[in-house]
Amino acid sequence: MMEPCTLLIFGATGNLAAYKLLPALYHLEAAGRLHPESRVVGFGRRDWSDEDWRERVAEILSQRLASRLDGAVSQRLRERLHFVGGDLERPEDVASLAARLRGEEGFPANRLTYLAVAPRHYATIVESLAAQDLHLEQEGWSRLVVEKPFGFDLESAKILDRQLRRRFDEEQIYRIDHYLGKSTVQNILVFRFANLMLEPLWNRNYIDHVQITHAESRGIEDRAGFYDGVGALRDMIQSHLLQMLALVAMEPPPSLDAEALRDEKVKVLRSIRPIAREAVHAQAFRAQYGPGRAGDNRLAGYLDESGIGRHSTTETYAALKLYIDNWRWRNVPFYLRTGKRLGQTNSLIAIRFKHPPQRLFQSTAIERLEPNWLLLNIQPNECMRLEIQVKQPGLELRTQTERMDASSCVLPPEHIDAYEALILDVIEGDHTHFLRYDEVDWAWRVVDPVLKLWATERDFIHTYPAGSWGPVEANRLFDREDQDWRNGL
Ligand code: BG6
Repeated sequence: MMEPCTLLIFGATGNLAAYKLLPALYHLEAAGRLHPESRVVGFGRRDWSDEDWRERVAEILSQRLASRLDGAVSQRLRERLHFVGGDLERPEDVASLAARLRGEEGFPANRLTYLAVAPRHYATIVESLAAQDLHLEQEGWSRLVVEKPFGFDLESAKILDRQLRRRFDEEQIYRIDHYLGKSTVQNILVFRFANLMLEPLWNRNYIDHVQITHAESRGIEDRAGFYDGVGALRDMIQSHLLQMLALVAMEPPPSLDAEALRDEKVKVLRSIRPIAREAVHAQAFRAQYGPGRAGDNRLAGYLDESGIGRHSTTETYAALKLYIDNWRWRNVPFYLRTGKRLGQTNSLIAIRFKHPPQRLFQSTAIERLEPNWLLLNIQPNECMRLEIQVKQPGLELRTQTERMDASSCVLPPEHIDAYEALILDVIEGDHTHFLRYDEVDWAWRVVDPVLKLWATERDFIHTYPAGSWGPVEANRLFDREDQDWRNGL
């Protein structure tokens, strides 16, 4: 049963709200999944009235959804919107917000507070909320959604967790990793555990290596304030890519219950072989985009983006090689890679199988036997492809690669992203697709040694032309010469 709630967004005028949250709320409105009494209250550093914000949201939605925008849906959403101007660092501004919520009719007592702001503000906001009793569950529930990266490194994540838990119970906290809300990412679980066929092959005996790539053609846009100093390893790998790795590598959980699922993911993260300081250069690589081109367009380099310091060595590209030391995966490399301003926007999990043990075709015209690949394309298109070797038609014994695509490959990309499902989960009190603190902690442990070493090497960073597929030097991570990146299907 859908419950009414007040959805309070800190950072309502920011990039996350514009790119993800507001379109998600629009989609929920269109699907009739918001309770008629639910309200959305934006809080941000603008001197705006409700009407100003409504206008601004209408502009954002028409930019983002273009011809898909339905005026009637947009109008219904508009009526739910309210705005309170204030500085999130000033407790008195949060007090005015609380006064408005309590003083006016029509704001449901169930409260979902979404912190769509940089983690450095979380502790102050939580204290200001608590000073107004907004953390208490008196007349309704009070749930707190926090965005990634959760902290800046292992140490700061621990401190942050203690700060949040001083005021909110674990049951009230929803640590979001929006990749877990993507239907294609949830499909990894279904694909693995609703089908028996691949399970016997899903291990070190048959799999040569696994690649997980998230590539973006976009640059950092107007996010310099957030991105510079954070970088690709913290922004994407510590969270989204390690979560995908955990889903690919985990054992079947005893049930789909939130705790059972998260227990299995934690086991994977704990089994990742720690990267020794001396091994960082062999297992991790970073780079930054320089000027480049996309077709006829010139693209600025990272250092020329607005808000970026001339000498920044923040990485916009990061790649890691990881090993999972358990029975299933020992010595199978997992290559993780992400970058901004790459050749194409695409996320792909590519699983390469080993060669058959016998060289049966050695004396034939077959020069090189290609391996089997299983490709799970996460976005923009959901697609599953199996590459197998077959005989070429004709008199000679030669092989060719046959691509077996799932019928979903030709469907247009899904417009519903991940936040729709996750916002509904919070309203329903379901933690399954949110991170438990120990997952965050173990994920930081994986990347921490790399961050520590990189922090001491701030005078040089490799570059790659914007619009390319990243620097060739990243190939040094591969264990063998016959391994190479798969950039797309
Ligand atoms: C966010 C990162 O978590 O994920 C962004 O902060 C990145 O830098 C984004 O662009 C990618 O998400 P999606 O859903 O667009 O693939």
